[in-house]
Amino acid sequence: MNKLYVLNHKMNLQYEELEIYLKKLNELSTKNQIILSPSTLYLDYCRKNTKYHLCAQNAYYQEKGAYTGEVSFKQLKSLNIKYAIIGHSERRNIFKESDEIINEKVKSCIQNGIIPIICIGESKEERNNNNHLTKIEKQITSSLEQTTPKEVIIAYEPIWSIGTGTIPEKEELTQMIEHIHNILTTNYNIEFKILYGGSVDDTNIEQILKINYIDGVLIGGASLKIDVLKNIINK
Ligand code: PGA
Repeated sequence: MNKLYVLNHKMNLQYEELEIYLKKLNELSTKNQIILSPSTLYLDYCRKNTKYHLCAQNAYYQEKGAYTGEVSFKQLKSLNIKYAIIGHSERRNIFKESDEIINEKVKSCIQNGIIPIICIGESKEERNNNNHLTKIEKQITSSLEQTTPKEVIIAYEPIWSIGTGTIPEKEELTQMIEHIHNILTTNYNIEFKILYGGSVDDTNIEQILKINYIDGVLIGGASLKIDVLKNIINK
């Protein structure tokens, strides 16, 4: 089955670097689906210069008004942006986004016809204290509260795995992905995909994609290196 690869550039690449990157990305061929999530600043440029679907890394839930420095989901929609990452752990931790704010963002995303890629994940401490399953359930439930989405993408990204080079053990990942799958099938009547994110590269992609119910991956650091990315998307 075809897999989904979301390329999260985070706050990387200067404009000239992006131009070169995009040319190379456009030359890649794969039967799988690629979704590019560049810095917000470059979304319009990417829209005009690539065939791939685009994804915002963040947006604000109010539609318009006096919110200096923010970009709304409604504005993203006006550029035909199809996806948005919501609740990435960097937003939750560095920018102090609460579950309530994330829920508002999911609502605004849905209202504007954008498919949310909702990131969830536990800290090492939560896992060590055996609170990881509860934490994930709470994050899913609160992000989808009072919403009726047709389609969502859930990205399981353990915080201890992002940018560290460490990925969960096969048993840990199997248990968590099954847990997420069960929560979504039991409590919601929606179309969904489950992604894994955190230190994905060309040495571990095969073992990750073997896990039952994983529909694809969210790639940070490795998505910036075209040679590595080429190996990843063709596995
Ligand atoms: P990483 O980041 O692949 O660099 O670990 C993933 C993410 O934060 O989405």
